[in-house]
Amino acid sequence: MKRIGVLTSGGDNPGLNPCIRAVVRMGIHLGVEVMGIRRGYAGLIDGEMELMAARSVGGIIAQGGTILGTARCPEFYEVSGRKEALRTLNRFEIEGLVVIGGNGSLTGALELSRMEFPTVGVPSTIDNDVNGTDISIGVDTALDTILDAVDKIKDTATSHNRAFLVETMGRNSGYLALVSGIVGGAEMVLIPEVETPFEEIHELIESAYLRGKPHCIIIVAEGWKPGTEALAAQLREHQDDLGFSVRLTRLGYVQRGGSAEAFDRLLATRLGAAAVRALVDRQGGNMVGWVKNVVTLTPLEGAVAFQKALDHDLCELAEIMSI
Ligand code: F6P
Repeated sequence: MKRIGVLTSGGDNPGLNPCIRAVVRMGIHLGVEVMGIRRGYAGLIDGEMELMAARSVGGIIAQGGTILGTARCPEFYEVSGRKEALRTLNRFEIEGLVVIGGNGSLTGALELSRMEFPTVGVPSTIDNDVNGTDISIGVDTALDTILDAVDKIKDTATSHNRAFLVETMGRNSGYLALVSGIVGGAEMVLIPEVETPFEEIHELIESAYLRGKPHCIIIVAEGWKPGTEALAAQLREHQDDLGFSVRLTRLGYVQRGGSAEAFDRLLATRLGAAAVRALVDRQGGNMVGWVKNVVTLTPLEGAVAFQKALDHDLCELAEIMSI
């Protein structure tokens, strides 16, 4: 294999730049040219790319975001878009592709490999909802960002004796909320995978107040229904019997920014490098992952086929620790 391409696609997260750097440098190490494709699949269709050198990725290991840019690309869901992408890959004499992204991006990678183009996926999303890896790139740093915010919110919640709803990202996955609830010492966690009736939430807040807790922190995953705003409105109607007054903080996109911390830099470096090796070893059609502390290969089909299962041990821990 003489030349490969690399792109970042979908929602960004800390760790994309260390991963691009690893792909480029492992490529150079193995004597393979690496083309950096801009704006994900959109740039692939439009032929926006350039040859990367060791120095093109110098100094990016500590930078958040992605130097290649990213995009969500509806055209790529269509066969016509994917055929256009294949034409571009042939025009630039690219023989293999590394796709760094979450479920949607990896589904795109699967479609390309079904069209017999050697493609390897790298799981990178703060949602941690990709199968075939214990953890995706970006999750650990996003958790640090959330934890920093929760610790600070706890200070002000304690000073004012308030209940806080803190909304985390994660799409349909409760992973970020669950783990940040445990490590942030929250009183309750609400996640899309578990139905929690209003009465239970009301009772928990009231009982936290009566047990003499100085605050009540509830982490709400964005995918939880009926949603954080609706819950806050409903709780305000019951303000008098709750004890605590209620406030809401939506953490939002701050969770996707920032410099990757050590774990994510190492994971990104391991997986980016392994993706290039997999392409060179003719292992296209797979996703690299990190399972039980070892780099693994999983068929892309298996990685994107179904939603990653909830870790019930973590749910139990969250409940036990919140007394
Ligand atoms: O998949 C990553 C993620 O940040 C989700 O947690 C969130 O639901 C979504 O992306 C937001 O997407 P967008 O960047 O298109 O607003």
